[in-house]
Amino acid sequence: MQAFEKKVWLSSPTMHGDELKYMIEAYETNWMSTVGKNINELERIAAARSGAAYAVGLTNGTAALHLCIKEAGERLYGKSAVGHGALEGRQVFCTDLTFAATLNPVVYEGGIPVFIDTEPDSWNMDPDALERAFACYSDVRLVIYAELYGFPGKIDRIKAVCEQHGAILIEDAAEALGATLHGKHCGSFGDLGALSYNGNKIITGSAGGCLLTDDMAVANRIRKWSTQAREPVLWYQHEEVGYNYRISNVVAGIIRGQYPYLEEHIARKKAIYEHYREGFRDLPVQMNPILPGAEPNYWLSAMVIDRDVMCTQNRDDSRARYIPESGKSCPTQILESLTAYNAEGRPFWKPMHMQPVYRMHAFVSVDGTGDVGKDLFARGLCLPSDIKMTRQQQEQIIRIVRDCFGCK
Ligand SMILES: Cc1ncc(COP(=O)(O)O)c(C=O)c1O
Repeated sequence: MQAFEKKVWLSSPTMHGDELKYMIEAYETNWMSTVGKNINELERIAAARSGAAYAVGLTNGTAALHLCIKEAGERLYGKSAVGHGALEGRQVFCTDLTFAATLNPVVYEGGIPVFIDTEPDSWNMDPDALERAFACYSDVRLVIYAELYGFPGKIDRIKAVCEQHGAILIEDAAEALGATLHGKHCGSFGDLGALSYNGNKIITGSAGGCLLTDDMAVANRIRKWSTQAREPVLWYQHEEVGYNYRISNVVAGIIRGQYPYLEEHIARKKAIYEHYREGFRDLPVQMNPILPGAEPNYWLSAMVIDRDVMCTQNRDDSRARYIPESGKSCPTQILESLTAYNAEGRPFWKPMHMQPVYRMHAFVSVDGTGDVGKDLFARGLCLPSDIKMTRQQQEQIIRIVRDCFGCK
């Protein structure tokens, strides 16, 4: 086998041409700012496509999460004084197996993340561990939940647990745009939701995000906060601290041009996932689980290696090593092999409670001793899932992975 001449990416942008039309329109009409038709249209389309009443266009998904968290914090604990976060000293239950952007904004607002373990059958937050967390920390009133790799977890159960405890639920659907559970869109389950159009997502504007809400007053407040919290008077008048988080009309044009291709992208990602599943049918690995009633967007195909065929693998905070063993493999070996052939894979997201910055924080597992996230991190990896990968290229990726296990 020869290395790929052109790199096969994990997940890169796929453009279609319509994006350029809307970018040029912004240029030619001179709406080269944070106001314009592309933003209005993006907000209309994003709301309609996610089942939320309102979408607010923001610079990125992290900004959307930050404003979700600030809104929730003020709703729960009142308006914060200047220089204080809305969550000052408050604990917040957060998904553990996710990208750090899900919960970094909790800290921006002075909050303290408490991490909730993952369940093995969905790779998402474990609702039973969340129940246990409410039993241990009875004054917590905010939960931040993120879908992993575009595959819905039991968000309906998570929502029920939140309602039972009078907690606000924020849903980070950055990776799950277009995915549904029982026909309902990811992003619309939470009291507040966030989407991302980052360059690696299922559709992209190079950057960009949306905050989702069913409350018009909330949407208007978020728009105000995102434009420096200017009061509607002649001069610059400020009664609260604001942010420069509004999306650009040019970036919104790219996303507007991408939305008509969302279904096509999902179909392509699904075909990639199914081809991997078929290609690994007889290997001792599990692909991303799909819950009954879930229709994922298949953003990243990932796999977890069975415990009994894991060779010895060691990781510290910056390096990974393994000892090759016939018939066995590990994520490090497979990722090195993919790199050698000029293809991009990635280790599983490293759980937040294992991150140097957060490892002193509380972590709640379902039985108080287990650690599903740590186990998935050790045995899991993300496979090249790029929409532009050809069938032939994917066949070769499958062969590369099979070779690692000594399988033809
Ligand atoms: C789960 C999750 N949340 C939040 C984000 C942040 O989105 P953005 O990069 O648009 O700020 C990302 C990805 O970047 C993500 O994967």
